[in-house]
Amino acid sequence: MTSVTRVSLLLAYLAFISLGLPDSLLGVGWPSVSADLRVPLDAVGLLLVAGTETTTNVIANGLVALSAHPEAKYALCADPSEIPAAVEEILRYDGPVPAVVKVCTEESVLGDRRIRPGEMVFPFLSSANRDPAQFLDPERLDITRRPNRHLAFGYGIHFCLGAPLARLESEIAATRLAERLPRIRLKGGEPEWHDSLILRGVKSLPVAL
Ligand code: HEM
Repeated sequence: MTSVTRVSLLLAYLAFISLGLPDSLLGVGWPSVSADLRVPLDAVGLLLVAGTETTTNVIANGLVALSAHPEAKYALCADPSEIPAAVEEILRYDGPVPAVVKVCTEESVLGDRRIRPGEMVFPFLSSANRDPAQFLDPERLDITRRPNRHLAFGYGIHFCLGAPLARLESEIAATRLAERLPRIRLKGGEPEWHDSLILRGVKSLPVAL
């Protein structure tokens, strides 16, 4: 089982238990745990998934995006003060969480669709992040884009708890790469992407230094 399959199963598991549905529906043999252990275990599972796969992918996705835009990469190496803005743009342009799962709690209308309480929706943050009504020339990677009101970390009460940590980690990684490995480039052609709608990342990323 690949790490993405494991992560997807864990995410599905978390979605199911947060909906109060029995684990057996998934048929993946999760051990039953007592109710008082469940909350801390869920929290650990959430932090493990939310805190590792995401930031790892944003670093790799950033390398892929910058390799396709060498002028942006050179600009960052020349002026690392632009790295925080570049991290925001990479999160917008190719963030690691393209979509989230939500369950509607009250009768709502979205565009021309009526959504009833209890219905599940699958909003694509990656699509909102390329909304031409919000972003000028949204298909373009612009590492100096300001303002950059992207939704890569979600929105509202479930806004990513780890966003400050993820931003810090990504900025440190980008700064160190720019300082120590300014000639880093992809080896080979287009990398192979994980086959997942909820996690966007590469299976591997061979590079030359
Ligand atoms: C670039 C990296 C990251 C991205 C793009 C990201 C993205 C997201 C998104 C989109 C959500 C909202 C999910 C929803 O509304 O259903 C979320 C929630 C969450 N994230 Fe992150 N995340 C990242 C890194 C992290 C890190 C490093 C941690 C912790 C160490 C973390 C912990 C969480 C937690 C606990 C939640 C749930 C918050 C809640 O439901 O109130 N995330 N994240």
